Amino acid sequence: MSKGNYYVTTPIYYTNAKLHIGHTYTTVAADALARFKRFTGYDVKFLTGTDEHGQKIQEAAEKLGRPPQEHVDEMVKSIKALWKTMDISHDVFIRTTDERHKKGVQRIFQKLYDQGDIYKDFYEGYYCKPCESFWTQSQLEEEQACPECGRKTEMAREEAYFFKLSKYQNQLMKYFEDHPEICYPETRRREMINNFLKPGLEDLCVSRTSFDWGIPVPFDKDHVIYVWFDAVCNYITALGYGEERDRDFKKFWPANVHIVGKEIVRFHTIIWPAMLMALDLPLPDKVYGHGWILFAADKMSKSKGNVVYPEVLIERYGLDALKYFLLREFVFGQDGNYTNHTFITRLNADLSNDLGNLLSRTVAMVEKYNGGIIPKVGVVEDLDEELQQTLTSAAAKVEGHMEDLQYHDALEEIWTVIGRTNKYIDETTPWVLAKDERNKPRLDTVLRNLSEALRITAILLKPFMESTSEKIRTQLGLTQELHWEDAKYFGKIDSGVKVKKGKALFPRLDVKKEVELLEEENKKVARAQQAAKEEAALKESGKTAEKSAEKGDNSAADKAAGKTAENAPEERGAATIEDFAKLEFKTAKIIEAKAHPNADKLLVLQLQVGEETRQVVSGIAKDYQPEDLVGKDVILVANLKPVKLRGEKSEGMILAASNKDKLVLGTLDGEIPSGTEVS
Ligand code: MSP
Repeated sequence: MSKGNYYVTTPIYYTNAKLHIGHTYTTVAADALARFKRFTGYDVKFLTGTDEHGQKIQEAAEKLGRPPQEHVDEMVKSIKALWKTMDISHDVFIRTTDERHKKGVQRIFQKLYDQGDIYKDFYEGYYCKPCESFWTQSQLEEEQACPECGRKTEMAREEAYFFKLSKYQNQLMKYFEDHPEICYPETRRREMINNFLKPGLEDLCVSRTSFDWGIPVPFDKDHVIYVWFDAVCNYITALGYGEERDRDFKKFWPANVHIVGKEIVRFHTIIWPAMLMALDLPLPDKVYGHGWILFAADKMSKSKGNVVYPEVLIERYGLDALKYFLLREFVFGQDGNYTNHTFITRLNADLSNDLGNLLSRTVAMVEKYNGGIIPKVGVVEDLDEELQQTLTSAAAKVEGHMEDLQYHDALEEIWTVIGRTNKYIDETTPWVLAKDERNKPRLDTVLRNLSEALRITAILLKPFMESTSEKIRTQLGLTQELHWEDAKYFGKIDSGVKVKKGKALFPRLDVKKEVELLEEENKKVARAQQAAKEEAALKESGKTAEKSAEKGDNSAADKAAGKTAENAPEERGAATIEDFAKLEFKTAKIIEAKAHPNADKLLVLQLQVGEETRQVVSGIAKDYQPEDLVGKDVILVANLKPVKLRGEKSEGMILAASNKDKLVLGTLDGEIPSGTEVS
């Protein structure tokens, strides 16, 4: 009989970039909890999904030149494929572009509006027209300049809808006091109280008009719903909240736990609970904010190029190795550092030595000393009692740790069992017992106890490492299904069962070799990301120049051009004459042009600049054939720091005007020697 219902969720993932092991960490943790709860008798609903609206996603799609819907469909395919590879056992995969979700969010928005919890007002702030963005005073650069493009912003007012977050301030404060589980761990709870609740909550702007990739406000189609308002609703729209047949909602809400990363705790412990209060719905039992996986003490992030992808590790070391490492190495709730060295050494120590050897030694000894048959109990000694005690008490301890989401403690407990059993082999020395036939009854007990320990280990490991658990079961020759409660009893293994030696669970790894190999992998990823960044910068410069050209703003066009090579002055806003003097423009003649060996959009040009020849890589391949370029006189930004673009050196850049249809090189209106200064 079911022990009750259990609803666990991951955050829903943005669909603007490939997921790395930081993202998989949240999902692996939620998956282990869902499996654990199912295995221990609960009726579980495990939700994950994708967060597909918002300006960032619209921009990511635009950068790739595809419609947002097409873009998110592609991204979702790859996220689903990853969860398949990782054998994630979710019951629901919600997409915020699902019709059901969109309707649900609109119903919620309408309800809150009708009851006065959402109202229309003006959003006031510093507005940058070209960027179509509002900024607060503290975000602005000097002289009220836009932090994005550097141009002067203006104080502006825009109509928007607001959610009355401030109204729930006291209610939330009280809730935090009475229900500490609303925000775990304790450090994050204090952070929320001190940084947000005590200083006071302001009403939240929940609509946007500056882009349209979002769910329309149901009664005002000029506005789309703020992406975070849209996103948090997924936890109930996925259960059918507000629908006529909302059986899942009735059954599973409130959630038992939302697992989230620490940077999104505020959305889940303040904004979301306030929305639920407004909807008159119960709050989730627990929100757990876990720490970040850091890479060289920095947050793993694609933009920093310090990303580790799970596929590489799974392919080489297996899924269970990665899952085990993530849950065991990092203390859930705290940040932790990922290094290839800790990964490989932990695999060797815990999986290959402790667990792998225990299984292979036990099976080998049962084969050698008892013809492969698990024996009946013979002579019992005091020592057995202690082993039995460690084994049968483990399950309850694991349950306790899982209640607190302390995965590393749960796994440590299981490794205590493994460690104790390995010690039992050393203490009983079966190979010595085997030398004298009179010891056979004692040897039988030892072999049986070892098999029994592995049976219990297989049960304990099942929610965390399904396929490893299965392999242990098969090698032990167990035919019956594993049940959690059976881990609490000793002596359940059938005698007469025949063990089957299999492959080593986790072959021992050469640390130096593997670390080198993984470092090479990391470099490959970083190189690919650098290349993508360069390409995006080239595209971006075309776009900014285009915006500037439309507005007749030459200084900005120059700045945009400099940005392409990623080494232009960082100053923003109107350039002073000193700024301008920092750049050196010269006339140059194109003497050779050819396709870039590694990038379709780039050409590699040789320029005559006075006495000197320079190589410049330029993103003009779509608009110019190499043969049409030779002989053209162009303007070169001559003192940019040389960079490599997809492996080809580029010393400076040539000026061009572009809009979305075409790009035209800036050439000279008359003859003048190359290398002449342009000012
Ligand atoms: N879309 C929002 C969540 C909306 S939930 C209603 C979002 N998405 S995300 O894709 O950026 O992040 C999803 C989860 O991945 C977050 O919990 C985040 O903390 C986690 N991680 C992303 N990088 C991480 C690390 N380097 N380490 C650990 N977890 C991290 O936020």
